[in-house]
Amino acid sequence: MRTVKVFDTTLRDGEQTPGISFPLSYKIQIAKQLDKLGVDIIEAGFPAATQGEFDAVKEIASLGLDSKVCGLARLVKHDIDRAIQADVDMVHIFISTSKIQIEHTVKKSREEIVEMAVEGVEYIKSHGVECMFSAMDATRTEVEYLKTIYKAVEEAGVDIVNVPDTVGVATPFTMYELIRELREHLKVPIDVHCHNDFGLAVANTYAAVKAGADEVQVTVNGIGERAGNASLAEVVMLITAVEGLKTNIKTEYLVETARLVERLSGIKLPPNTPIVGENAFSHESGIHAHGVLSEAATFEPGLITPEMVGHRRRIVIGKHAGRHQIKKMLEDAGYAVSEDILTKIVEKVKELGDKGKKVTDLDVITLAEVLMGEV
Ligand code: KIV
Ligand code: ZN
Repeated sequence: MRTVKVFDTTLRDGEQTPGISFPLSYKIQIAKQLDKLGVDIIEAGFPAATQGEFDAVKEIASLGLDSKVCGLARLVKHDIDRAIQADVDMVHIFISTSKIQIEHTVKKSREEIVEMAVEGVEYIKSHGVECMFSAMDATRTEVEYLKTIYKAVEEAGVDIVNVPDTVGVATPFTMYELIRELREHLKVPIDVHCHNDFGLAVANTYAAVKAGADEVQVTVNGIGERAGNASLAEVVMLITAVEGLKTNIKTEYLVETARLVERLSGIKLPPNTPIVGENAFSHESGIHAHGVLSEAATFEPGLITPEMVGHRRRIVIGKHAGRHQIKKMLEDAGYAVSEDILTKIVEKVKELGDKGKKVTDLDVITLAEVLMGEV
């Protein structure tokens, strides 16, 4: 069975989320958690960006984690040297290859860009450090030019090439085709990095894996520039539980990791977030709750359980609740109510729900106690 590697960029692209700047102690906590989770590579930061960034990457690289530690660098000697000085296992170099970005930012000829990429790879490899090369804005780059530059860095000894969908314009169909074509053209492993501008980062990453990508770049909770990056939990569960491939992720730590990054980043997870959100395994409507209480796969995908991702199933009491789930909740709390009392409780819960009131388990228990004459 194929193992897909997971490259986490929460500490680099995730930190590029507007408003986020992790202090060193937060970065270390997150790096240790990512290591516990089993990510293959942690992109710990951009060492040339600031002194604090350099110190954080160096500190993470010295922790002796099982995950490899990577540092980002533009294709300039100073950036590459800073990453190497931070003692990373891998330097991730990038340069724009699309017409629009070359014209407005790089301002070099296509041939010069290929030469710079080859020199960068050779320089990094001459220091005995692994090298990843990204053709930034790959999904808006002419495919023939992409093939040329990736082939050139492959011949220069790059360890892996990354295909970034920098502005999130790929679709699963275009991503599949692009990766399939590159896969046929290259021998070197292929990695993908998808942004979520149209809400397709996870779907595009999945399509890339289907087309033969060997590695996925993700962030915890999908945090990142603009609309963010592909979410680690969603990508991992799709390619393992749905697609049947392997990763080295210990999925039982997914919720714990999501909560840590939620707390340290201050970016709240909507309750309906897939896999790790509060409601991912919650059921309120009577029909669903009844089904799930008898067999979970009736109203859940069935391919994943809450335990697999470190979550719990919740049966929530609300106006859509049925007798069965209210009875079960009361029994679990140690209350055996008569059918008459149960009818009254169900009526009251629906009445309160219709008035827009949130009914908690404690409200239902109090109601039962009152009706049973225990208070
Ligand atoms: O989105 C992007 O293109 C990036 C590169 C640095 C890989 O984050
Ligand atoms: Zn990015």
